[in-house]
Amino acid sequence: SILIVDFGSQVTQLIARRVREAGVYSEIAPYTMAEAAFARMKPKGIILSGSPASVPDAGSPRAPQALFEAGIPILGICYGQQVMTEQLGGEVRPGHETGEGGEFGRAFLTVTQPCALFDGLWEVGERHQVWMSHGDKVTQFAPGFEIVATSDGAPFAVIADEARRFYGIQFHPEVVHTPDGAKLIANFTRHVCGLAGDWTMAEFRATKIAEIREQVGDGKVICGLSGGVDSAVAAVLIHEAIGEQLTCVFVDHGLMRQGEAEQVVSLFKGSYNIPLVHRDVEELFLSGLAEVTDPEAKRKFIGKTFIDVFEEEAKAIGGADFLAQGTLYPDVIESVSFTGGPSVTIKSHHNVGGLPARMNMKLVEPLRELFKDEVRELGRELGLPEAFVGRHPFPGPGLAIRIPGEVTKERCDILRKADAIYLEEIRNAGLYDAIWQAFAVLLPVKTVGVMGDARTYDSVCGLRAVTSTDGMTADVYPFDATFLTNVATRIVNEVRGINRVVYDYTSKPPGTIEWE
Ligand code: XMP
Repeated sequence: SILIVDFGSQVTQLIARRVREAGVYSEIAPYTMAEAAFARMKPKGIILSGSPASVPDAGSPRAPQALFEAGIPILGICYGQQVMTEQLGGEVRPGHETGEGGEFGRAFLTVTQPCALFDGLWEVGERHQVWMSHGDKVTQFAPGFEIVATSDGAPFAVIADEARRFYGIQFHPEVVHTPDGAKLIANFTRHVCGLAGDWTMAEFRATKIAEIREQVGDGKVICGLSGGVDSAVAAVLIHEAIGEQLTCVFVDHGLMRQGEAEQVVSLFKGSYNIPLVHRDVEELFLSGLAEVTDPEAKRKFIGKTFIDVFEEEAKAIGGADFLAQGTLYPDVIESVSFTGGPSVTIKSHHNVGGLPARMNMKLVEPLRELFKDEVRELGRELGLPEAFVGRHPFPGPGLAIRIPGEVTKERCDILRKADAIYLEEIRNAGLYDAIWQAFAVLLPVKTVGVMGDARTYDSVCGLRAVTSTDGMTADVYPFDATFLTNVATRIVNEVRGINRVVYDYTSKPPGTIEWE
């Protein structure tokens, strides 16, 4: 296994992900707990993460010195390179002192020496694109190291001590903007640490099941299903671990897409035989949403009402000791601020986040370290149907935030029809999997049209489709005009209440993916 020592970088989980992709098991430990993790895991290699901190600052984090004396390979990334340099007797200076500033974004380095990290990948003399993000830099490397690659802004872009098998990389190999980054990390795990790379999602499943059993004991677990992939995968995994100790509650707020609620019920009750409480509370949600037009007010109402209903059901089944959630890693980073600064609330996300504190329950979150596509892979591993696992993400507040202005049952029904046509056309064109999210929105605007010689005065439907890897940034999906024209024609012809269709050409940022 590989121990990843975390110094608080936003992308530490990406390192773990690359290590998993190389077929190697890893664990992340905060630097304060790294020594204990090391003793427990007995890893074959260590990776030191980046950090928002600065090595020259007093009080900035350090790796346990013992790690450098353990005789196993170490890869330091960015801050990890700098802290290793400092702890082994080299020098790191703040960017402002060297007068050269930092390096941020795309950079090119030149390979100057062979190195085990470059095996079968990079040759001496070649130039390669990498992604830099640093202010400070190594100004004097530690004894035993030599430069193996260099860039204009970072003379010590990659340094290596092949005898001790210590490597320091100034750039970020874990991000996709370093095209060969995943291969560099795989070279570290395979060639340097000698790990075979045969770890799989099946083993992740087995490990998590053991962890869940250990955590829960003979306690009772309750899980809120949202209809989405994450909570479903979490529930199926937990059910496999503890069986009937798990009860799922599906708060059906009536703001789902067409056919979705039925699918959830048949999947859980029918295919998996998981104890499921299905509460149909459409009426409650729609009456509460009447005349609510402010996006945040909608989100807050839905979040709060969801919790109220969930709590009622939890009481009705006699309470539970644990609350299971399908929290993913991107949810974790969005909610934790390592820099300490207050971050602006763009939207109040509804994903039962308020529940644990209010209900005084401990959390079971088996997907916390995974990214969306890894959750899908785990879902397949657990036998969930492909059509369910591959489904586009859907926000907790559902269609309510895709109907700017007032939400009514009638408008939800209109939107469901338009959305279903749009998605059907996308599926038929074989584009569904190439798109991160595609959906229709129903605008609170009426425009004039003409159909069969008669005047119409109906709502406008907006279509959105984006590509993304994590929902944090997104590009507009470039449909061809014929496709969009066809969808527009079908929607106007088949959905009463819509007489005009527009396509949303805004990327994120500056737009968000959802309209509210
Ligand atoms: P935005 O609109 O913020 O959305 O660009 C980013 C991603 O998050 C989803 N989303 C939500 N998911 N609860 C959720 O579970 C929410 O309240 C929520 N709001 C937005 C959105 O669909 C996109 O995938």
